[in-house]
Amino acid sequence: MFESRSGVFLIAGLGFFGLSFLVMAVLPWAIYYKEPEQTVEQLAARGIIPEFVDLAERYPEQFKQYFGAPTYATYVEALRLGHQVYVAEACWHCHSQFIRPVSNEDLRWGPVSHALEYQNELQRPVLFGTRRVGPDLSREAGRRSNDWHVAHFWQPTSVVPSSVMPPYRWFFDGQGYPNKRGLAVITYVQFLGSWLKEYPYFHGEGPLGPLPAPTPADAPIARGATSGETDSVDAPIVGAATAGVLP
Ligand code: HEC
Repeated sequence: MFESRSGVFLIAGLGFFGLSFLVMAVLPWAIYYKEPEQTVEQLAARGIIPEFVDLAERYPEQFKQYFGAPTYATYVEALRLGHQVYVAEACWHCHSQFIRPVSNEDLRWGPVSHALEYQNELQRPVLFGTRRVGPDLSREAGRRSNDWHVAHFWQPTSVVPSSVMPPYRWFFDGQGYPNKRGLAVITYVQFLGSWLKEYPYFHGEGPLGPLPAPTPADAPIARGATSGETDSVDAPIVGAATAGVLP
């Protein structure tokens, strides 16, 4: 058996299947089975994400109508509802919530997922996802602004012209402002990954967004900064004065 090629393939196939089952199922279970499943209340106790407060400031009327004030209790409510909407709308059909330790996925989306991250109420049912028509969302927190999400749910192609994500107009009221479901689902996606210490700098840099175009002012300001003149009101003015002169 050991001499035949099929025997080797059989053993290698079964052996590696067994090994991966051991490493990816038995081992995480053995490490974490004593960890209690966290409730949304416990997850929220880490602190309200700034994006939730920002929603209350941006859409004061709607927020007041649907949630009242951005408190711990309403944050919990929004997370629960947002999660329900995510499940009900089958967002998981196109989005995964699992960053694998292969194929440089961490460079695309941020830190690799950890088994413990799934031991909570918001991962019931488990939302690993099986397809990636869209990007993984487990590090979505703080990557985009609330405004970006509002525009994106209203009409995805308005911010990503090549997008195949469907518009979700029923997340909005008659006037085009986010309704309760809209506010909740934005809170939920802005929450994803916010529990990590890297949040929101998952990529070693700030949240995604258009980077400021390099201006001719960069060089003089940088020099001023290194010579301890960061407070100097002259620095930006020097930059502005040279703008248009340098290429
Ligand atoms: C038909 C597949 C599909 C469905 C269903 C879908 N999406 Fe998407 N989604 C995409 C694609 C493709 C992209 C990437 C292009 C873009 O940004 O629109 C995307 C992008 C996103 C982004 C932006 C990610 C980023 O930072 O670039 C978020 C957030 C998002 N989707 C949330 C959702 C939510 C929430 C739902 C359910 C209400 C949902 N999606 C349903 C396909 C889908």
